[in-house]
Amino acid sequence: MKKLIIILPGDGIGKEVTAQGRKVLEKVAHEFRHQFEFKEALIGHEAIEATGTSLPDETLSILKQADAILFGAVGHPYYDNNPSLKVRPEQGLLKMRKELGLYANLRPIKLFDELLDASSIKPEILKGSDILFFRELTGDVYFGEKGRKDNDTTAYDVMIYSKYEIERIAHKAFAAAQTRKKKLVSVDKANVLESSRLWRSVVQEVGKDYPDVQLSHLFVDAAAMKLIQDPRSFDVVLTGNLFGDILTDEASQIAGSMGMLASASIGDTVGLYEPIHGSAHDITGKGIANPLASILSTALMLDISFGLKEESESVIDAVSQTLKAGFRTVDIADSNTAKDKILSTEQMGIKVSHRIHANKTVLAN
Ligand code: IPM
Ligand code: MG
Repeated sequence: MKKLIIILPGDGIGKEVTAQGRKVLEKVAHEFRHQFEFKEALIGHEAIEATGTSLPDETLSILKQADAILFGAVGHPYYDNNPSLKVRPEQGLLKMRKELGLYANLRPIKLFDELLDASSIKPEILKGSDILFFRELTGDVYFGEKGRKDNDTTAYDVMIYSKYEIERIAHKAFAAAQTRKKKLVSVDKANVLESSRLWRSVVQEVGKDYPDVQLSHLFVDAAAMKLIQDPRSFDVVLTGNLFGDILTDEASQIAGSMGMLASASIGDTVGLYEPIHGSAHDITGKGIANPLASILSTALMLDISFGLKEESESVIDAVSQTLKAGFRTVDIADSNTAKDKILSTEQMGIKVSHRIHANKTVLAN
């Protein structure tokens, strides 16, 4: 299979982790005899520095030729500490999601058994957790009208959803639930917000097409609590952009570390794959970032965008074997991890890629 993969390393640890994602894709191509061509383009702070804008036209036009996109992260402390700046790295990511119509963000939260002790949640509560989040990605307060008034003393961001936006992601979430435990929880704040009341009634309506899926609703505050109290009670979670952003960072703790969580952003055309973590400037350049979220994002790419199930499985297997062999990056290490098993970002990428084989009976060190 011949595919063009665009890599957008972006800012901070984005570069370090996508380099390992690429390494894994190269190994998959070699093992399974595919031709993956890679091109890199600018986004985020780096793009602002080079061109003055966070998503240059050149990047957008390259993206339009892509068969899939591997994205790192955007962000820089300079902007976080200067809220009045008008050009910001995150705008590039948001614009890209909107322009490419990437309205569904899938965030699977699956705990590798080897990492049961890496989480701050008790192992007996966690064991067997397996949640698939569908976070709506191109609506909500992220894209509603925003502005300042009253001489700059008042600011607003409108939370807005239209029926079609809710319907299209609800269909995707229900269809996914049919292939899993057939349970879907829709998360909103319908006791307070009008947009949530529309959300709830549209989800109920769409649910009629999927009578085999058990639908329930939770308010976002209660969902935040229940995720930690009883993560195993969840199967598919469907929610809006802002609630999904917050809940998935919380849920990353179920998988041990934010450095483990991959995501797929899909719509009607190209798919974009990215870790849920950000640019993490506090650890940038130290070579200690966990590349597994980026690597697991490539597994989602192989499966969802290319339909290469076996290849995708081989990546997940390789990650699992690497963890089984005791190797850890520092974020998922614990007091039992031997010093020589704590790997750098690059070493982790190498360990995983060595374990990818078309013929699974061949095992490497
Ligand atoms: C995410 C990130 C982004 C978001 C930021 C970087 C704009 O937190 O992908 O979860 O809020 O969507
Ligand atoms: Mg986030």
